[in-house]
Amino acid sequence: MCTMCNTTIDQSKSDQFAEQMVSHLNSAAITAMCSIGYRTGIFDIMGEKNPATSLEIADKAKLNERYVREWLGAMVTGKIIHYDPDTKTYVLPQEHAAWLTRKNSPNNIAVTTQWLHVISSVEDRIVECFQKGGGLSYDEYNRFHDVMADESRQTVVIPLIDRLLPLVDGIKEKLEAGITVLDVGCGSGGALITLAEAFPKSSFTGYDFSSDAVKVAKDNIDQNGLRNIDFLVKDASAFDDQEKFDLIFTFDSVHDQAKPDKMLKNIYNALKLGGTYFCQDIAGSSYVHNNVDLPLAPFMYTISCTHCMSVSLAQDGAGLGAMWGKELACEMMKDAGFSSVDVKELEHDMINYYYIVKK
Ligand SMILES: C[S@@+](CC[C@H](N)C(=O)[O-])C[C@H]1O[C@@H](n2cnc3c(N)ncnc32)[C@H](O)[C@@H]1O
Repeated sequence: MCTMCNTTIDQSKSDQFAEQMVSHLNSAAITAMCSIGYRTGIFDIMGEKNPATSLEIADKAKLNERYVREWLGAMVTGKIIHYDPDTKTYVLPQEHAAWLTRKNSPNNIAVTTQWLHVISSVEDRIVECFQKGGGLSYDEYNRFHDVMADESRQTVVIPLIDRLLPLVDGIKEKLEAGITVLDVGCGSGGALITLAEAFPKSSFTGYDFSSDAVKVAKDNIDQNGLRNIDFLVKDASAFDDQEKFDLIFTFDSVHDQAKPDKMLKNIYNALKLGGTYFCQDIAGSSYVHNNVDLPLAPFMYTISCTHCMSVSLAQDGAGLGAMWGKELACEMMKDAGFSSVDVKELEHDMINYYYIVKK
């Protein structure tokens, strides 16, 4: 009997839940520490040299030993790193390094742990939004575009040519022959730059409304000396190209929009008849009860609530959020005028669906 509320509770269920909450606390803490391990390069160093003392690791990483040793404490008790008390040495098992080091990209889950920091950097402002409504602009988040580019390098840029393009029949041949390609909400442009290098006869254009992201993208073009690509600061809800592109991409950029319906209509208008709209967006159902067993659903709802939905609501937008889901996505694509939507999944990417859309 709960004496406070005068109701009977199942004590064993309650104890189990307390254990679940303790596990959540530890998981969140380990996630935060993995982000630090990634950014400081400790995982990479430990992936190369095992076993090593805290001093050896700190020296190699050019870091402060005391911080490294406390970080190692979290990693040892979190069962990510093994410790031998006799030799005072630490080991990152190769089976763990396979998911935590840069050389194992695109399987590096440590990249994704950085989101915890991005969203924590605005917690006070998000609490205000819970109280007063509204949202936050992209600029308010610490390191958003950096972390996005890192994430996108894994899920989009590295697998783009060998895994993503084959989802569209014959598209590689068309790119080799020379076609026009647009990426809407292109961020810092990693995907288009990779394509522009691989397919010199095709021409590539990227739109994003963030001048910071477009500047990084333009600097990347200069570094690569490419002539078949351009990036422009443009609002996805306001561009008015007509039947100009053979292939249009959006990578993880529809659900963030203030006016996703207008963006989809503009993409429809900009696509040539017979062209393809290739949309990568977060995997999930529009109905929360269908997402209960989705492995990353709590993570995705969290990023959505604190970032994706918020950046849209900041502009009085639709606030779809990352978990807008397949059902609503297909409906909105049909409403924009598209005649067919084929939803595909790829083994390397448990976060996204790939919508292959035809005019
Ligand atoms: C989640 S990020 C994805 C970036 C990039 N496609 C990638 O995969 O790395 C969403 C992008 O959409 C851009 N964006 C949001 N609203 C926009 C709008 N109305 N017009 C153009 N770009 C927009 C943001 O600046 C951001 O770069």
